[in-house]
Amino acid sequence: MIASVDGRLTTERWTAPDGGPAAALVHKAYDATAARLGSQGWMVGRTTMADYVERESAPQLLDRPIRRASFEGRRNGRNLAVVLDPSGKLVHTSDDLDGDHAVAIVSERVDEVYLEALRATGVSYLFSGPDGSDLAGAMATLGEVFGVTTILLQGGGTINGAFLAAGLIDEFSTLIFPSVDGLAGIPSIVDYRGISTDRPALGQSLHLIGNEMLEGGVVWLRHGVSHRAGTTL
Ligand SMILES: NC(=O)c1ccc[n+]([C@@H]2O[C@H](COP(=O)([O-])OP(=O)(O)OC[C@H]3O[C@@H](n4cnc5c(N)ncnc54)[C@H](OP(=O)(O)O)[C@@H]3O)[C@@H](O)[C@H]2O)c1
Repeated sequence: MIASVDGRLTTERWTAPDGGPAAALVHKAYDATAARLGSQGWMVGRTTMADYVERESAPQLLDRPIRRASFEGRRNGRNLAVVLDPSGKLVHTSDDLDGDHAVAIVSERVDEVYLEALRATGVSYLFSGPDGSDLAGAMATLGEVFGVTTILLQGGGTINGAFLAAGLIDEFSTLIFPSVDGLAGIPSIVDYRGISTDRPALGQSLHLIGNEMLEGGVVWLRHGVSHRAGTTL
């Protein structure tokens, strides 16, 4: 993730050190560090992926979840571009996203028409339980069926918060961009949707495993996460 000094995630609101727009420096730092982390792909929430697909539709959800097999399209050695889209809102028109193979993680309430459209487009899919909240199960399938051992969770804050609360993050890679947002209410890079007494990071401690200054004064921090057993939300 890339954050402003105050931990916010809306990069369009930032100013670069030279006073101009931040976009070029943001993308350069993000892509360069992602490449250095080494993974079999990247993974984002439905809202973030909406910027990459042409449109969204109103899903027809089944009254009751149905367990079905996952589907593996033709990956052809590509890395994976994974989206957590529990209701099947995104309309995919290609299985290729910036050279990576698209994979949709959907709930068991998504209807057959949506799955058929994914198969026709060659987009792979797998399930995240009856209501889409079984992230651990989805990650297990991603490992077993797609051979993934490392995947970059690239936001936004909502999906990052859900993975944090599930105890599924084992390393944070955070780029601190030299800009401040400053407005109350702008989302942070980890934004679990819960009540005021929830502590999504309970039982998880961070230890610094890397720090580096990049071009333009962007600081790259890496933290390993230690999990104390039995303490996730
Ligand atoms: N600074 C950065 O590095 C960075 C990186 C990525 C994105 N961003 C920015 O982040 C913003 C989007 O972030 P966001 O937090 O609004 O959305 P998000 O995390 O991209 O997506 C949230 C959506 O993911 C789906 N989801 C699937 N499983 C879920 C679960 N277990 N718990 C909760 N949600 C689940 C839900 O879709 P449904 O609503 O369909 O149920 C939910 O609304 C954009 O402005 C984007 O540009 C910044």
